Amino acid sequence: MAALQEKKTCGQRMEEFRHYCWNPDTGQMLGRTLSRWVWISLYYVGFYVVMTGLFALCIYVLMSTLDPYTPDYQDQLKSPGVTLRPDVYGEKGLEIFYNVSDDSSWADLTRTLHAFLAGYSPAAQEDNINCTSERYFFQESFGAPNHTKFSCKFTADMLRNCSGLLDPDFGFGDGKPCFIVKMNRIVKFLPSNSSAPRVDCAFRDAPHKDVEPLQVEYSPPGGTFSLHYFPYYGKKAQPHYTNPLVAAKFLNVPKNTEVTVVCKVIAEYVTFDNPHDPYEGKVEFKLKIQK
Ligand SMILES: *[C@@H]1O[C@H](CO)[C@@H](O)[C@H](O)[C@H]1NC(C)=O
Ligand SMILES: *[C@@H]1O[C@H](CO)[C@@H](O)[C@H](O)[C@H]1NC(C)=O
Ligand SMILES: *[C@@H]1O[C@H](CO)[C@@H](O)[C@H](O)[C@H]1NC(C)=O
Ligand SMILES: *[C@@H]1O[C@H](CO)[C@@H](O)[C@H](O)[C@H]1NC(C)=O
Ligand SMILES: *[C@@H]1O[C@H](CO)[C@@H](O)[C@H](O)[C@H]1NC(C)=O
Repeated sequence: MAALQEKKTCGQRMEEFRHYCWNPDTGQMLGRTLSRWVWISLYYVGFYVVMTGLFALCIYVLMSTLDPYTPDYQDQLKSPGVTLRPDVYGEKGLEIFYNVSDDSSWADLTRTLHAFLAGYSPAAQEDNINCTSERYFFQESFGAPNHTKFSCKFTADMLRNCSGLLDPDFGFGDGKPCFIVKMNRIVKFLPSNSSAPRVDCAFRDAPHKDVEPLQVEYSPPGGTFSLHYFPYYGKKAQPHYTNPLVAAKFLNVPKNTEVTVVCKVIAEYVTFDNPHDPYEGKVEFKLKIQK
C-alpha cells in the first residue's frame, strides 16, 4: 500500500506560505528576486506605454481624416424626407380629423402650428440674413461670425394667410385649414439645377368622381422653397439655419368625407417614388373635416 502522505498541520502550511512570500535564504519574494521583479515591472510599464502610444496614434490618424463640417455617414440619404405640420399620427400614419363646429377638436392642431412657427419669429431669426437672390447661396469661406457661414432668414410672415399672424386659427375654424410642409435638410444637397423645388398637394385618389380637384393656396407664392436656402453646410457651419417652409391652405376639402392628400416636392433631384420610404420626397395624410 502506498505510503499515505503525511498530513500537514495548519501551522506548517502557514510557515510554507510565509517562506514563499519571503525566502530569507535565497532573497526571493513570491518566488522571484527583487531585481527580477523590477525587470518584470519595467517590462510591463514599457509594454503599456507602447500600446497606449499606438492606440493614440490610431485615434489621431482617424480624427485627422474627419472633416468636422460634414457628417461622415450619409450614404442612404440621396433625396430628402418631407414632414407635415400639424402632425397627428393615427394607426396608419398621419391622420388629421376634426370638427369645424367643435373648437376643442382643432385647438391642439393650431397650437402645434403656433409652437412650430415660434422658431420662425423675427427674434428667432435675427442671426440670419435677408436673402433675395433666387439662386443657390454657395459659400466657400466662413464669412459669418464665429467661423460659420451665413443662413438665410425664413420668417413666419412669408407664409401669409398661413402665418398664424393674420389668422390665428390657420383656417381650421372655417374648414380651409393650413398645412405646413417641410423638407428635411441634407448636407450639401442641391435639389435642382434650374427652378426652385415646389410643393404640389392633391387628393391621392378622387374620393368620388364628382369631387373637383383640390384647390390649394400656397405660400410663399407658387409653393416654392427658394434656392437661396441651399446648399446646407451642416450644423457646425450654419448653427442658425432653419428649414424653409411651404404652407398649403386647402380651399375645397369636402366635408364629412375622409380624403387622402399627398403633398409632393417637385424638383429634379427629389424623388418621391421610393417604395421603402413613404416619406421620401412626399408626405401623405388622411384628412376628415366634419361639420
Ligand atoms: C360637430 O360638432 C357639433 C358641435 O359639437 C356637433 O353638433 C356635430 O354633430 C359634430 N359633427 C360630427 C360629424 O360629429
Ligand atoms: C431684412 O428684411 C427685413 C424685412 O424686410 C427688414 O426689416 C430688415 O431691416 C432687413 N435687414 C437687413 C439687415 O437688411
Ligand atoms: C459667437 O460666439 C460667442 C461665444 O460663444 C457667442 O456669445 C456669440 O453669440 C456668437 N455669435 C454669433 C453671431 O453666433
Ligand atoms: C388671404 O385670405 C383672404 C381671405 O380668404 C384672401 O382674400 C387673400 O387673398 C389671402 N391673402 C393671400 C396673401 O393669399
Ligand atoms: C442640369 O440638369 C440636367 C438634367 O436635368 C443635366 O443634364 C444638366 O447637365 C444639369 N446642368 C448642370 C449645370 O449641372
